[in-house]
Order: sequence, then structure tokens, then C-alpha cells
Amino acid sequence: MFGLQNWALALTAALSVVQQTVARPTEVHPGSAKDIVLNSHDTLNGTTGGVFNTPNAGNSTGGFKITVTNNIASGLKCYVTGQDPNKNKAPAMLQNDGTWYYPTSSGEVGTPQPITADVGIPMNDKGQTTDIQIPGYLISARVWFAVGDLQFFAIANADGTYSVAQPSESNTADPSAGVSWGFIEFDYEEESGLYANISYVDFVGLPLGMSLTNSTGAVQTALGLPSTAVTSICGDLKTQAGKDGKPWDKLCQSINGTTLRVLSPYTYMMVPGNTGFDDYFSDYVDKVWEQYSSTGLTILPQNGNPNATCTVSGETLDCPGDNKNYTKPSSADIFGCNTGPLTVDNDVDTAIHKAAVPRLCAAFHRATFLLDGGDVQPSLGAKSYYTADVGNFYSQIIHKYEVDGKGYAFSYDDVNPEGNENASGSVSSKSPTLMTVTVGGPTE
Ligand SMILES: *[C@@H]1O[C@H](CO)[C@@H](O)[C@H](O)[C@H]1NC(C)=O
Ligand SMILES: *[C@@H]1O[C@H](CO)[C@@H](O)[C@H](O)[C@H]1NC(C)=O
Ligand SMILES: *[C@@H]1O[C@H](CO)[C@@H](O)[C@H](O)[C@H]1NC(C)=O
Ligand SMILES: *[C@@H]1O[C@H](CO)[C@@H](O)[C@H](O)[C@H]1NC(C)=O
Ligand SMILES: *[C@@H]1O[C@H](CO)[C@@H](O)[C@H](O)[C@H]1NC(C)=O
Ligand SMILES: *[C@@H]1O[C@H](CO)[C@@H](O)[C@H](O)[C@H]1NC(C)=O
Ligand SMILES: *[C@@H]1O[C@H](CO)[C@@H](O)[C@H](O)[C@H]1NC(C)=O
Ligand SMILES: *[C@@H]1O[C@H](CO)[C@@H](O)[C@H](O)[C@H]1NC(C)=O
Repeated sequence: MFGLQNWALALTAALSVVQQTVARPTEVHPGSAKDIVLNSHDTLNGTTGGVFNTPNAGNSTGGFKITVTNNIASGLKCYVTGQDPNKNKAPAMLQNDGTWYYPTSSGEVGTPQPITADVGIPMNDKGQTTDIQIPGYLISARVWFAVGDLQFFAIANADGTYSVAQPSESNTADPSAGVSWGFIEFDYEEESGLYANISYVDFVGLPLGMSLTNSTGAVQTALGLPSTAVTSICGDLKTQAGKDGKPWDKLCQSINGTTLRVLSPYTYMMVPGNTGFDDYFSDYVDKVWEQYSSTGLTILPQNGNPNATCTVSGETLDCPGDNKNYTKPSSADIFGCNTGPLTVDNDVDTAIHKAAVPRLCAAFHRATFLLDGGDVQPSLGAKSYYTADVGNFYSQIIHKYEVDGKGYAFSYDDVNPEGNENASGSVSSKSPTLMTVTVGGPTE
């Protein structure tokens, strides 16, 4: 008996060692309202002072139709969230009756309360289409698709306004963490019309593709990723983790062996406790600084401004015409492209700074600085991207699977030599009539 127990203990200990060393995705543990983490990415904050305290039928004009093709599974749900620009940006959700619901909460200030209004719109079965009418203008908006139910929460604020907490991809205890979901983001206003995108800057979830038809009948498309994308991407990330020992495999989240989504390195490293990428670019940055202390790095601003040849002197990279010098960026600065020396302040920065930051950032992600010809940025084509033994391999792998090469995988993914393809997965129109969305990869 003792012998057996000891053997079992030894086996358990051996297994736990294996668990720590074998590449594995991050397991999610869906929680409840108390596990919600409020952040700027997933919280819609109210800006009205209790004017729309009761559910309110839509009264904004404008509108367009979305035709959804379900290529994934039965039980698909759609949710539409955003802020109503005609109601002082009150958080709004589309109800099954086709009107906006403006979430409120009678709960304690700051405490998320489940939204129980009729906001989960069921999609027809796999292989079928469903029409949704967006009744009016909406900003900071998302069209969510989920295989199952998503949970949204209303929060009463001290100033009498209300916020909405949406599902978060980075919080492994989010109440919706165990569901596979994805969204298209859009802004739709009377003046500017509709701008919508699919992007992988933050994560890859349920594969979505879209097209937009405007009043002249012209069609724009962004096809997205195939149905098996998440599994394929996670397989490749596991291989990459095996090569360099970095936690690429941990970017993947799964539940009970089913892979759900993939976080970008930046989203992953912003979660407290997720180490492993903190010094990822350090050696590379040192080498880049060393190289460009003896030779010039030419930035092509591609915006009508003269080329700028930068050099490292002392600790900083200095570019003529730039109002700021660049200290060595941290790995988080590089993965996020918007902090430290890679910050852009549109109000004060020069045109050269606004052009240099995206170009420096893209050259770090793709690790092109030390390649032949890398002293002119951007000048090397996509064949040279991600060929070094360091770089944003999450981005490389996503581009490998994109059906039509569209969808940004980091914020300055549109930086390319003149005449190259633009990876923007966005569509826009002053007069949209129809958006089509395909859930679960393009129809074969
Ligand atoms: C909304 O409020 C929450 C909680 O105060 C805050 O964390 C978040 O950054 C705000 N979101 C936006 C988009 O400003
Ligand atoms: C809708 O909004 C317009 C302008 O804000 C206002 O004049 C009109 O009375 C509103 N209609 C309803 C039914 O609330
Ligand atoms: C996608 O669109 C939303 C809404 O307009 C915007 O906030 C976001 O920055 C866009 N993302 C990209 C990668 O363009
Ligand atoms: C995962 O497994 C647990 C325990 O067996 C079960 O309660 C849960 O429903 C499963 N979740 C999913 C998404 O399969
Ligand atoms: C900037 O450099 C590029 C490539 O070296 C060259 O083709 C272009 O003419 C230069 N532009 C200016 C304004 O000198
Ligand atoms: C950048 O550094 C150079 C010398 O290294 C210095 O002459 C220049 O004033 C600095 N520029 C800024 C904007 O700090
Ligand atoms: C790529 O396309 C997007 C959307 O049309 C646009 O905002 C962006 O400026 C383009 N980038 C380049 C480098 O042309
Ligand atoms: C419709 O889309 C086409 C192609 O993108 C564009 O050239 C045209 O200006 C658009 N028309 C309107 C009215 O938005």
C-alpha cells in the first residue's frame, strides 16, 4: 500500500516536472464578475450623466445591414457594442428587437453587474446566413461573434454615468474566457461614414472575414484567416518556443485541450506575472546601436519630407529633423510601439519623428536593421522580414496564414517600401450599404 502510494507520489512529481518543461498553452479558468479586470482596451466608459437611465429605443439616424455567414458551428451568437455619438457617447448594445439598449446598473458604484437585456443575437446554423440591421451611428464599436454566450457587465460610476465591461482576451479568469470569440471593430458617424477593421495587433480569436459594399456598388474585402488558423498558429509558436526557449507557446490559451485564441506578445507581457519576453530584444538593440554608431541609418519618411540619416552618438540614436533623440527601447516599447522612445505625440512631434517611429518599430519587429540593405528603412521587401533569429514571430506566423495578406499583426505593419502591398485589414465608406461577415474562415 505504502509502496504504491510512494510510487504514485513519485509519478506525480515526475509529471509536474514534465508539465513545467514541456511546451504548453496557457490554460484559462473562467471566473465571475469579481474576476473582471477593468482596462482601457475593453471598457466602454459612459460620458452621460444618467440621461438614459432606462432602456431606450434607438433615435440615431443612419444604419447599414450586416449579412453574416456562419461557417463555424451551430450556436453562434452575435453582439454589437459601442457608444452612441448622438446620445453623448452613452454605451450601447444592440438588442434582438433591433433597437439600442443603453446599459445601466443599480448595483454598488464600481461593481460589475451582469447585463441581462436581450443582447445575444442568435445566428442561423452552420452553412446559413443571418441578417442584422445596425440601426444608427455607433463609435468605438465592435461586432462580436462567439460560439456560445458572452457575458457583458454594467458598472455604475460615482458621477452617475455607466460603463460596460466587455470580455477581455488577456484575463484568463474573465467570465467569457472559456468561449471562442472574435470581433470586428468599427467607427460609424454621419460625417466620416463607416471605418471597420479586422486586426491581430492584440490577439487572434475566432476567424472573421469581411467585405463592404458602398452606394456605388464598389466592394472592399479583407478575408482574414482560415478556419483552422488558431490551431496552426499555435503549432508554429510551439515550434518557435522549442527553437529559442521563449514562451511563444504561452501566447496560446486553451481550455480542456481546446485552443481558443492567441495573444500578441505585447498583450501577453502586459499581464502581471507573464515574464519571458522582458529582455527579448536587448541583445539585438545593443547590436543595432553598435552598428549605427559607425555607419548611418537612413529613414525614408515617404511623406514628402527629406530623407534623414541617423547615427548613434553616446547612448542615443539621433535623426536630423527629429525633435527627440532615441534612447535604447525596451522589449515592451518595441512590442507595443507606443511607449518610451517610441512614443509619438501628434501635437508636438515633427514630421520626421512621426515617420521615424513607425519605421524604427517595423524594423525591430521584422529584425531588418542588420541585414544587407537594412541601413535604409524601409527598403527591404517582405522576403527579408523575420529572417533573423530574433523578431516578432507571432506576426510572421499570422502573415503566413492570412488568406489575402490582410490584417495588421503589429501597429505599424503598414510600413513597407514604396509600391508594396498594404496589410491593412480595413474597409471604409462614406455611404455603406452592406457589410458581409464570414465567421470561421472563407467559404470554400
Ligand atoms: C474606463 O474606466 C476604467 C475604470 O475606471 C478605466 O480603467 C479605463 O481605462 C477607462 N476606459 C477608457 C476607454 O477610458
Ligand atoms: C430624436 O432626436 C432628435 C434630435 O436629437 C430629436 O429632435 C427628436 O425629438 C428625437 N426623437 C425621439 C422620438 O426621441
Ligand atoms: C481598428 O478600428 C478601430 C475603430 O476605428 C480603431 O480604434 C483601431 O485602432 C483600428 N485598429 C487598427 C489596427 O487599425
Ligand atoms: C472543461 O472541463 C470541465 C471539467 O470537466 C467542465 O466543467 C467544463 O464544462 C469544460 N469546459 C469546456 C469549455 O469544455
Ligand atoms: C531618399 O532615398 C531614397 C533611397 O535611397 C531615394 O530613392 C530618394 O530619392 C531619396 N529622397 C530624397 C528626397 O533625397
Ligand atoms: C540629440 O543629441 C545630439 C547629440 O548627441 C544633440 O546635439 C541634440 O541636441 C540632441 N537633440 C535633442 C532633441 O535632444
Ligand atoms: C494602408 O491602408 C490604411 C487603410 O486604408 C491606411 O490608413 C494607411 O495609411 C495605409 N498605409 C500606407 C503606408 O499607405
Ligand atoms: C465606393 O468605394 C469605391 C472603392 O473603394 C470608392 O472609390 C468610392 O469613392 C466609394 N464611393 C462612396 C460614395 O463611398
